[in-house]
Amino acid sequence: MLDITDLALGYGGTPVLDDLSLTVPASQFAALVGPSGCGKSSILRAVVGLHEPDRGSIDLDVDRRDVGFLFQDDALLPWRSARHNVALPLVIRGESRRAAEAEADVWLDRMGLSGLGDRFPQQLSGGQRKRVALAQSFAPRPRMLLMDEPFASLDAIVRHRVTADLLSWVESHDITVVLVTHDLEEAIALSDRVHLMSNGPRANIVERYDIPLDRPRDLVATRTDPQFAPLLEELWHGLAGVVDGVSSDRRRLEVQA
Ligand SMILES: Nc1ncnc2c1ncn2[C@@H]1O[C@H](COP(=O)(O)OP(=O)(O)OP(=O)(O)O)[C@@H](O)[C@H]1O
Ligand SMILES: [Mg+2]
Repeated sequence: MLDITDLALGYGGTPVLDDLSLTVPASQFAALVGPSGCGKSSILRAVVGLHEPDRGSIDLDVDRRDVGFLFQDDALLPWRSARHNVALPLVIRGESRRAAEAEADVWLDRMGLSGLGDRFPQQLSGGQRKRVALAQSFAPRPRMLLMDEPFASLDAIVRHRVTADLLSWVESHDITVVLVTHDLEEAIALSDRVHLMSNGPRANIVERYDIPLDRPRDLVATRTDPQFAPLLEELWHGLAGVVDGVSSDRRRLEVQA
């Protein structure tokens, strides 16, 4: 569904990504983890056409209108209410305003925001805005979702509920997902494959971890699965190696030694 080959990209001559390849088959839940500033958001921006790569190719086997994109910083329109922000992509797609607003209310309810539909973004907390943005990306029922740290700034309970809701929705509708997260437990609990990025500049993907946990998953039960702790440890060491600047080749040698 998404095929990135030998991608190189930078800003004003400063390289950020180089030789980066990433394949996400249809219906797969992929997580992207890596040090802050390595270029995760840049990858997603390139996929949706907001940033022009210097080299390489990005093949997206789905209509761009069927791709939902959740920005790291919420991109709500300040002059529209929460309801109208969520309804906007549906109206653009041709739904009647009335149907779109009714649908928006359903998604705001699912995000625990009942009664807040008339508020404007500046009248909402950071976590509430994040949930409006989540509702906005889910409401058009995309076939593919690109999400950049969607659950940051939510309290533990709301985070759990929203994540569990996303998980069952994604599993039951075969949605392809690329999730950027700094939360390694979340990456393992949700995804089929975790891609670990190296530190920039010229970052790429240095390790791939397959997550063989059964589906459908229960978020709580998943964390007590005997496979969970070893996977977390492996991923933790992988990220620590990257953050500390140890190349993946050297790490492999250390493991063998
Ligand atoms: N518009 C821009 N102009 C110049 N440099 C930029 C721009 N956007 C990002 N960068 C730089 O490119 C690099 C990658 O940024 P990016 O936002 O993709 O990182 P990230 O992996 O998403 O980080 P984080 O985990 O902190 O969100 C960083 O060093 C950042 O400072
Ligand atoms: Mg980012």
